Amino acid sequence: MTDSLSITFRPFEETDLPAMADIEADLQAFPWTALQFIQSFSEGHRGLVAMAQGELIGFAVTQMVLDELSLLTLGVRRDWQRRGIARQLVQALTEQASEQGAAVLMLEVRKSNAPARSLYRRLGFVETGVRKGYYRAEEGREDAILMALTLDEGGR
Ligand SMILES: CC(C)(COP(=O)(O)OP(=O)(O)OC[C@H]1O[C@@H](n2cnc3c(N)ncnc32)[C@H](O)[C@@H]1OP(=O)(O)O)[C@@H](O)C(=O)NCCC(=O)NCCS
Repeated sequence: MTDSLSITFRPFEETDLPAMADIEADLQAFPWTALQFIQSFSEGHRGLVAMAQGELIGFAVTQMVLDELSLLTLGVRRDWQRRGIARQLVQALTEQASEQGAAVLMLEVRKSNAPARSLYRRLGFVETGVRKGYYRAEEGREDAILMALTLDEGGR
């Protein structure tokens, strides 16, 4: 089995977009489409990918607006989950954002997404609000939980 030392992280590139869209499609009921990944890349959003054995196994995409960094999407390939990859992706983003002068890292997460909410809480994010019925759901709509990590105090 590959150990964690062989996992590397780097900024995303245009050639990564199909693999990112494939992973997203497998993970999410309402995934970003390949076109959305292309648009995000061409709009200058910042992304990080995790690589192992030459394959893309995880990604995070962010958008910086003034001093706020928003985490737009995050995913780890199913066979690589629970090995600390998402934690490392978000921590790396946090460090970069801090260095670039961001004051806060913000995100929205489905209320039902217990794994992601647990991940963010472990990383020091706090819940700052709720957007009622923000997401499409299998039946009707689902709330988004707003979370934030203040980088001055909580950045790591
Ligand atoms: C959420 C997600 C990115 C986590 O990726 P991951 O690499 O498996 O997460 P990590 O191994 O870094 O886990 C870090 C912590 O997050 C929490 N966590 C992660 N997966 C969890 C799960 N299935 N159940 C409960 N807690 C979980 C735990 O606290 C974990 O720490 P621990 O392993 O020491 O208990 C992954 O499950 C995923 O891709 N989900 C589908 C897409 C998604 O929901 N993206 C987020 C949208 S906001």
